[in-house]
Amino acid sequence: MPPSRIGIIMNGASGRMGYRQHLTRSILPIRDQGGVLLSDGRTRVQVEPILVGRDRKKLQEIADRHNIAHVSTDLDACLADPQWDIYADFLLTKARVPALHKAIDAGKATYTEKPTAESLDAALELARRAQRAGIKNGVVHDKLFLPGLVKLKTLIDSGFFGKILSVRGEFGYWVFEGDWQPAQRPSWNYRAEDGGGIIVDMFPHWNYVLEYLFGNVKSVYAAARTHIPARVDETGVAYTATADDAAYAIFELAGGIVAQLNSSWTVRVHRRELVEFQVDGTHGSAVAGLFDCRVQHRTLTPRPVWNPDLPDTHNYLADWTTVPDNVPVDNGFKVQWEQFIRHVVEDAPHPYDFLSGARGVQLAEAGLQSSRTGTRVQLRELTLEAPHDVAVSV
Ligand SMILES: NC(=O)c1ccc[n+]([C@@H]2O[C@H](COP(=O)([O-])OP(=O)(O)OC[C@H]3O[C@@H](n4cnc5c(N)ncnc54)[C@H](O)[C@@H]3O)[C@@H](O)[C@H]2O)c1
Repeated sequence: MPPSRIGIIMNGASGRMGYRQHLTRSILPIRDQGGVLLSDGRTRVQVEPILVGRDRKKLQEIADRHNIAHVSTDLDACLADPQWDIYADFLLTKARVPALHKAIDAGKATYTEKPTAESLDAALELARRAQRAGIKNGVVHDKLFLPGLVKLKTLIDSGFFGKILSVRGEFGYWVFEGDWQPAQRPSWNYRAEDGGGIIVDMFPHWNYVLEYLFGNVKSVYAAARTHIPARVDETGVAYTATADDAAYAIFELAGGIVAQLNSSWTVRVHRRELVEFQVDGTHGSAVAGLFDCRVQHRTLTPRPVWNPDLPDTHNYLADWTTVPDNVPVDNGFKVQWEQFIRHVVEDAPHPYDFLSGARGVQLAEAGLQSSRTGTRVQLRELTLEAPHDVAVSV
């Protein structure tokens, strides 16, 4: 019999992701709908959160606002208490590994934001420790649930593209420096010593997105830059930006697809959405964003002729057709929480485990290595059993 309730330790519940995505867009809507529906289509498991962090007053304010009964500043006590089944981690990246170790050792099912760790060694150790402890483990993979990417996946599965040749992605927007306008991201994102950097932030996402849609990443070449060397933090104090704020990368995928992805917090948006992927195949192409997806079939492809001497009056953007919103898509963070809870309660499949998280960290580490050395870095297949897996350059 599945339990009727599942207790969730939400560590870092007052942070940007912990509060906005995991609490207010996931756990609270799940609570409001009466819990997670299990595979029999009838039984529900209700969620009960405890908000954990360092500042009791802040946690209590959130708890009062949302009618949550439990808050704590004592993680060890929560981990020792059997009424809490799942440990969930939304801490800043640097603080994550020690907390995950404690949760694994306490035998809790463990779910975490990405990246799982700051180094491949630490990420693999987490995956192996979780396996040794026999605990269920999961890592976020929210981008797969973006409506635009859901449409892209449907197009791929339908055979629309023929043979997929290449992917070009643009992610980014201008993050203010913090002096004449406040920055819209936490300042630790711009300090390497605090676990910041756009490669560490975004390559774990790119890894599972590329794996899911196109094929596993075999190699990466990346040029990382710190374009803005000095910023001003949340308290108005100037600091040196030591982490990369832009990365220009080429990924070679299993099966031969080439993906070029630019990730930048120093770009002004001249696109429809903050992320866009163009996929070109022999039979058709698509441009997918967060929500939207437009396609052009080979039969509707215009025949441009290069002539720079004459103004070109053809409206190329008008040649694309919008893919309809046929299937409603729920918030990605909420959907992945429901999947993880089903995994914990009824052993439903959940491929986005700590080993998947380690592959994301491996890609970030390889991207930074590539940028440091100016070389293309090959990625080895990671397994839970292998004694040591490292990225090697060619
Ligand atoms: N999935 C996504 O799309 C996505 C997007 C942004 C960030 N993230 C990830 O989410 C995590 C949190 O990022 P954020 O933007 O919410 O950051 P944030 O700074 O808003 O929140 C961090 C949380 O960690 C807590 N914290 C800070 N220092 C701590 C310490 N030394 N010990 C214990 N707790 C500490 C803070 O109190 C806060 O609750 C990061 O790992 C980041 O990579 C994921």
